[in-house]
Amino acid sequence: MAFLFYILFWVSLSALIFIIHRTSRYRRLRLPPGNLGLPFLGETLQLISAYKTENPEPFIDERVSRFGSLFTTHVFGEPTVFSVDPETNRFILQNEGKLFESSYPGSISNLLGKHSLLLMRGSLHKRMHSLTMSFANSSIIRDHLLVDIDRLVRLNLDSWTDLVFLMEEAKKITFELTMKQLMSFDPGEWTESLRKQYLLVIEGFFTVPLPIFSTTYRRAIQARTKVAEALSLIVRQRRSESEAGERKNDMLEALLSADDGGFSDEEIVDFLVALLVAGYETTSTIMTLAVKFLTETPLALAQLKEEHEGIRARKSEGEALKWSDYKSMPFTQCVVNETLRVANIISGVFRRAMTDINIKGYTIPKGWKFFASFRAVHLDHNHFKDARTFNPWRWQSNSGTTSPVNVFTPFGGGPRLCPGYELARVELSVFLHHLVTSFSWTPAEEDKLVFFPTTRTQKRYPINVQRRSNVKS
Ligand code: HEM
Repeated sequence: MAFLFYILFWVSLSALIFIIHRTSRYRRLRLPPGNLGLPFLGETLQLISAYKTENPEPFIDERVSRFGSLFTTHVFGEPTVFSVDPETNRFILQNEGKLFESSYPGSISNLLGKHSLLLMRGSLHKRMHSLTMSFANSSIIRDHLLVDIDRLVRLNLDSWTDLVFLMEEAKKITFELTMKQLMSFDPGEWTESLRKQYLLVIEGFFTVPLPIFSTTYRRAIQARTKVAEALSLIVRQRRSESEAGERKNDMLEALLSADDGGFSDEEIVDFLVALLVAGYETTSTIMTLAVKFLTETPLALAQLKEEHEGIRARKSEGEALKWSDYKSMPFTQCVVNETLRVANIISGVFRRAMTDINIKGYTIPKGWKFFASFRAVHLDHNHFKDARTFNPWRWQSNSGTTSPVNVFTPFGGGPRLCPGYELARVELSVFLHHLVTSFSWTPAEEDKLVFFPTTRTQKRYPINVQRRSNVKS
């Protein structure tokens, strides 16, 4: 017993010395103003309860008004500096791998797998990032991907009747597109059963990463194993086909035949899982929200329809969209930008300081977290006039309602710039094209936007659709 007390005494004393040492070090450093909140919990509960309102940025708004665009807080177990300053955000993004490294919560990194692009660092990250970029760049989309995007979007829309839950449909479309792009799979039973497992994996992202406490997390881990097994089988099959000279034109082929020896099956599976994750929620959410905002802004919807009917009028019935059609959708691009701005799906990115960071007269200690908020910048009246209103016309040149400096970063920037940025824009544009030329719709019930833990609508955006008969599709 005495021995136990002795151990407890020394452990407590060491913890106390550590905390005092750390606190006095923080005092010596000049940190951005803010509040570290309660011990261990910090301000996590305030953050979670703040986002139950309809305001997109309640937690940040309140602190920016008290402390300015760089403030200190303590969330999810760690002291964190929040930045709502475009210049600081750019500095953080550009110095990835030098002064900062990306940092994801345990729940996400465990489920992604250690070889995922999102978790990779250093030269391997550089190599894989450029490989991914080369798979989704404009010329690949133009020459290979666009035809399937057009076909699969149309195939899905053809099955719509009466009531449609848009968020569900958009997710199905996005998943099918990604499976085609990554592994040349057309939709079928196999892709649908994989999608069901995959949905369980995603659910695990926003839970406590402790299987004993969370059934959702336990289920997510099991589903992750099943997804990995199914993908491993495909990878093995494709590897032998590839060795026999049977080549396909997709991302998996690029991974199998990469220079300097290619990658192991496990690396490829983790990589594919991460790509499915990165493009799925993001692109499907942007599709749903664009429709919601357009429905609530009839003038914008009318202008969009006019643009797409003009394109249809130049084509024969059922003819697929070509790259030149995509390039002649200027107002659509305004709608895409504005949706990404108002409802930024990735609200910002977490980074960890690899060394003490001197910025804007402050010193932030090595190991601290940063959160570069994109959404709060996009919704700041100093950068966008009437920032919280959906106004696609602001993106027309000379509208004067958008800040001249580069403050629009829905796809991040620097070495981790989203490799799917053009692909997401094309997919959304093609989807809008077929939607507005094939259907008219009305919301089936009122549905609200929520912003935490992800941006989405509460009721999966149900709409009643009516097929249009007067326009060639
Ligand atoms: C509207 C749709 C999308 C949005 C808003 C979006 C946004 C982002 C953002 C902000 C990042 C940077 C993360 C960071 O810096 O830590 C990112 C990274 C990434 N995105 Fe996207 N994305 C979208 C669609 C896609 C698509 C369709 C793909 C599929 C190719 C994709 C693949 C990735 C990957 C693999 C990364 C990780 C890059 C890295 O860490 O090097 N994204 N995305």
